[in-house]
Amino acid sequence: MTMQLVCSIEEMRKVSHTLKQAYQRIGLVPTMGALHEGHLSLIRLAKQHADIVIASIYVNPTQFGPHEDFDQYPRDFERDKNLCQQEGVDIVFSPDSREVYKDLHTVYVIETCITEILEGAVRPDFFQGVLTVVTKLFNMVGPDIAVFGQKDAQQLCAIKQLVENLNFPIKIIEGPIIREPDGLALSSRNVYLSEQERKDALCLCQSLDLAKRLYVDNERSAKGIKQAVSDFVGLVPSAKLDYVEIVDGETFQSAHEVGSTAMIVLAVYIGSTRLIDNAFFRR
Ligand code: PAJ
Repeated sequence: MTMQLVCSIEEMRKVSHTLKQAYQRIGLVPTMGALHEGHLSLIRLAKQHADIVIASIYVNPTQFGPHEDFDQYPRDFERDKNLCQQEGVDIVFSPDSREVYKDLHTVYVIETCITEILEGAVRPDFFQGVLTVVTKLFNMVGPDIAVFGQKDAQQLCAIKQLVENLNFPIKIIEGPIIREPDGLALSSRNVYLSEQERKDALCLCQSLDLAKRLYVDNERSAKGIKQAVSDFVGLVPSAKLDYVEIVDGETFQSAHEVGSTAMIVLAVYIGSTRLIDNAFFRR
């Protein structure tokens, strides 16, 4: 089957409707394009769980703050389309922004617990934008399953809560973090890094390894581990720690003690590029 490109919401609904009538299980992989191996791994995962895989490519303006990188965000639609084709994506859905957000757009989806801290505290409108666009994509596509990456752990947790609380009949599947051979988590924003910054960016995954080693050595105090991470990142000249936190992986609430479901999450500025990473202690 050749890959289909769908750009209008009405056409997307028609295509979905036809697929459902043929009892095809639809898998959705929402992305903002600038595809890398992390995204492609989610597409492969979707193929394992669905008959038809739809990758959405849409740089969602409402999840960028006024001083963030919406304008500079890397966009290469032809390359993304080719990668989707190579991976066997059935449909690329790339809705037109004028259709997604009409002039009078006044309804947003807000989550009031998981998204209050960390990314939510630092980027005030981010989760409202994400949860709104994910709700819209769910309504436009009507997937049976949707795949999201553990790379954006807080986003994943909030989306699971969205589906649970608002009764979407959609199964959320999570994909593990895909990393470069040296450990740097793949991110569309890695292209902003200079050669030196690319080296310095390793402090994110290295500090997660440090935290895990401390855990293996029986350190259970969140404060102790956070201090060690903070000291470690402090040694890298171009790095500035934005936050490091230890949270429960299921509820995303801060923990004092590192329990069995705990994870460590951090955000670090490397020069002017803000990167995030995370790891479970027990995986
Ligand atoms: P984007 O940053 O393009 O990411 C799309 C999906 O790819 C997300 O589920 C993200 O967690 C996953 N991903 C990114 N890097 C990854 C990596 N290194 N390994 C595995 N998965 C990775 O996240 C968004 O877009 C947007 O917020 C979106 C959900 C599309 C809503 O606009």
